[in-house]
Amino acid sequence: MPPTENTPTAPSASATPAIEFKDVEKSFGPTTVLKNLNFTVAPGERVTLIGPSGSGKTTILRLVMTLEELTGGYIYVDGKPLTFEERDGKRVELPKKRTREMTTRIGMVFQQFNLFPNMTALENIIEAPVHVLGKSKADASKEAKELLERVGLADKADAHPTRLSGGQQQRVAIARALAMSPEILLLDEVTSALDPELVGDVLGVLRDIAETTDITMLLVTHEMQFARDVSHRVMMFDSGQVLEEGPPDQIFNNPQHERTRSFLSSVL
Ligand SMILES: Nc1ncnc2c1ncn2[C@@H]1O[C@H](COP(=O)(O)OP(=O)(O)OP(=O)(O)O)[C@@H](O)[C@H]1O
Ligand SMILES: [Mg+2]
Repeated sequence: MPPTENTPTAPSASATPAIEFKDVEKSFGPTTVLKNLNFTVAPGERVTLIGPSGSGKTTILRLVMTLEELTGGYIYVDGKPLTFEERDGKRVELPKKRTREMTTRIGMVFQQFNLFPNMTALENIIEAPVHVLGKSKADASKEAKELLERVGLADKADAHPTRLSGGQQQRVAIARALAMSPEILLLDEVTSALDPELVGDVLGVLRDIAETTDITMLLVTHEMQFARDVSHRVMMFDSGQVLEEGPPDQIFNNPQHERTRSFLSSVL
């Protein structure tokens, strides 16, 4: 892959991290998927997770979204504990209410565009702003229309998901996440379920968000050119551990580990 000139420069790592994993462990029953995982993501930084199937990428995003229970360690968002905190040397679970407050600043888009099927595109987008943030329907609808315009779907406000292509549904899902003004956006293989001709529009929308906002992004993708263009940093996972990490040029052009090389040759 040729190097691109517009590889973004990483934001300052000195600020309080937007996301911090500290000694994170995640088990499903007897199976430990993540062990002693430590990493930080700076505010405004865009980090792509790559690695073989089953290496724990989705689990990491789902832990940040609090869709999975953290079985060990701590996750901090903006320096504040997300689900557990350390108090007098003990690991204490936070009240659910506080966790919920924290997650309102986090948006996630999944591989399967899971829109509410019984709602129009616009209704999908205003649902959380109205019911979680308490916005008026009028205000939320005005913002939703702007977001639909931004993702190229100004004419689809009243369409139900079944009337939209996969790519259009995914763009509605992105608009729905943006409607909550997230500080952090988690993207898990958002183009993998799409027909190839629909991928470009979705990536175009994400490139636009990357270029025009300072939302912190943690993403999983097999679109390596896209990863190279938008990421400040790429982290290669293997068996729940960071095998190596660095700027996209370094990871894609000069990987240090044989396992990274073989992974990249399998996806490029
Ligand atoms: N709910 C679950 N119950 C049991 N095991 C699970 C569960 N979710 C994930 N796992 C296991 O955790 C490991 C990591 O899964 P994860 O989905 O995070 O991998 P991934 O890197 O996202 O893989 P892929 O590239 O295929 O999406 C796998 O071995 C998987 O089988
Ligand atoms: Mg996954």
